[in-house]
Amino acid sequence: MILTRRSHSRAAVFKALATIFFLSFCFVFSYLQLQGTSSLQFLSNRLPTSGNLTAAHFPPELIKFWTNFADSLLESRPVCADIKIDHAPPNDTETRFEPDNPNKQRVDFLRLSAEDQKAVKNSHSFMVKQALHKAPNLFYNRRTKGIVTTAGPRYVPILLVSLRMLRRSGSRLPVEVFLGSWDEYDSTICEGLFPSLGARCRVITDIYNKAPSVAKLEHFQFKIFAILFSSFEDVLFLDADAFPGNNPDDLFLTEPYSSYGLVTWPDIFGNTASPIYFQIASISEPPVSLRLSSESGQLLLSKSKHAADLLLMTYYNYYGPSYYYPLLCQGSHGAGDKETFIHAAMALDRPFWDVRERPWVLGHWKNGQFGLVAMAQYHPGDDWRIENGLNRSSDPATPRPLFVHNHFHKLDPKTIIREVGPTRDAEGNYQRMWGPKESIVDRFGHDVEQEVWKEILVTGCEASTDTCAKVKDYYNAMYGEDGKEIYF
Ligand SMILES: *[C@@H]1O[C@H](CO)[C@@H](O)[C@H](O)[C@H]1NC(C)=O
Ligand SMILES: *[C@@H]1O[C@H](CO)[C@@H](O)[C@H](O)[C@H]1NC(C)=O
Ligand SMILES: *[C@@H]1O[C@H](CO)[C@@H](O)[C@H](O)[C@H]1NC(C)=O
Repeated sequence: MILTRRSHSRAAVFKALATIFFLSFCFVFSYLQLQGTSSLQFLSNRLPTSGNLTAAHFPPELIKFWTNFADSLLESRPVCADIKIDHAPPNDTETRFEPDNPNKQRVDFLRLSAEDQKAVKNSHSFMVKQALHKAPNLFYNRRTKGIVTTAGPRYVPILLVSLRMLRRSGSRLPVEVFLGSWDEYDSTICEGLFPSLGARCRVITDIYNKAPSVAKLEHFQFKIFAILFSSFEDVLFLDADAFPGNNPDDLFLTEPYSSYGLVTWPDIFGNTASPIYFQIASISEPPVSLRLSSESGQLLLSKSKHAADLLLMTYYNYYGPSYYYPLLCQGSHGAGDKETFIHAAMALDRPFWDVRERPWVLGHWKNGQFGLVAMAQYHPGDDWRIENGLNRSSDPATPRPLFVHNHFHKLDPKTIIREVGPTRDAEGNYQRMWGPKESIVDRFGHDVEQEVWKEILVTGCEASTDTCAKVKDYYNAMYGEDGKEIYF
C-alpha cells in the first residue's frame, strides 16, 4: 500500500484500523457462515422464522405482471383446430443423432393446411411482439440465485433424496418447490422437512389463478410456470429426480452461463422438431446434425438476460399440448416441454449454450442387454472449455459429469428395491445400479452411488419400518463389508 502524506493523519490511521477490523470481521463472519453449512443456517435469514412458510404471498409486482401477461397469452391463441400427429412415431434410425451426416433428413410427417399454418404463424408473431414488449416488466428479486423444482405428492420421497444429495454436495443455494395446488400441501413436509433442507413450498395456483380465464395446467406445463413464478433472477431448474454429484453453486458465476445466461443439456436422440415449426417462427431450419434433442431434467436460466424468451417458452408450454409440443417434437421420446427452451431462444435470436457432450448412460448389462437406469449430465464449464479448445488443468479432453437424472428408475425408497429391478442382477442377487464402482469414482471423484444409498436409507427410515429394513438389508449387503458403515 502506498501511503500519501495526508493518510498519516490520525483520522486516516483510525480509518485504516477500522477498515482492517471491519474486513477481519467480515472474514470471520463469512467463515462462520461457511461452517454453518451443515445446519443450513445460512438459509434461515431468507425464510420467515415462524408461522406458515408456504402461505407467504407472491409479491404484488409479480401478480400484476402475470395477470397482464396472461392477457397476452389468451389473445395469442392460435385460431385453428388443435394439431394432432396421426402418424406412427419415427423409428430408431430416423431419430438417431448423426453429427457427421449433414445430409440426414429431418423427421417430417406433421401436416397442416396452409390456412392453419398461417393462423398459427400469425398468433406466433403477435406473441413475439408481446413478449418483447412485456419482458422488461418481469418481476424477480434482483441478484438472487436459487434452485427451482416441482413435486406432486408421489414425488416427495424422491425429492427428499435429491435435496439431501444437493446438501451433501455442499450447495448453499435456496430451493423453491412448486406444488400444483393446496391439495398437495402437507404441513410436516412444507413447514418442517423441506425448510430443514433449505427448501420452501410455493403453491402455483396462489398466483396462477389470479388470472381469471387461463386454462388448468397439465403435467409438463408446470416446469416453465415454476421458473416464471420463482423469486430468483438466476435459476437452476432441477427435476425432482435429478441432483448434482458435486457442488453446482459456481455454475452461475462461470462460463458458459456468465456469457450465455441459458444452458441446456442434451438427450440421447436427434432433434425431431417439424420443418413447419421453423416456418411458423420465421427462422431458418438448422440441420438435424447440428445438435441433439434437449433433456430438461436440468436447466440454467437468467431472467435478466432471457426474460423475453422465457415468456415465449411460457407461450409454447401454455399451448404445448394443443400446438407446440407436436410441432417441436414429432418423436415419442419425451414429447413435452423439453424442446420449448432452445427453440424460444432461437426464435428471438437469443444466445444459449447447449451442452455438446452426450449424456453418460448409467446402468448395467443383464442377459446381454443394457439396462438403462439413469443419465449423468456433464459439467457445462468443462464442455465449454473443450469446445473452445481450452484445457481443464489435469485432463484436457475428459469432462466431469455433474448431474444425475434418475429418469428411468426413480429413487423412491419404497419401490426402488424390487424382486426384479435395477438393484438385482439376472440371477436376482443384489448389485450396484449404475455399473462398476471404479467408473463412478473415477469420473465423479467419489462414489456418488454409495452416497445416494445413504440418503435413500435416511429417507426410507423416515417413511416406514418396512422400507427402512429393506434398504438397510441392501445397504449392508452392498457396502457393509469395509466394516465402517454398517447400519443395523
Ligand atoms: C398454511 O396456510 C394454508 C393456506 O392459508 C393452510 O391451508 C395451511 O393449513 C396452513 N398450514 C399451517 C401449518 O398452518
Ligand atoms: C425406418 O423408417 C424408414 C422410413 O422412413 C425406413 O426406410 C427404414 O427401413 C426404417 N428402419 C427400421 C430399422 O425400421
Ligand atoms: C492443452 O494441453 C496440451 C497437453 O496437455 C498442451 O500441449 C496445450 O498447449 C494446452 N493448450 C492450452 C490452450 O492450454
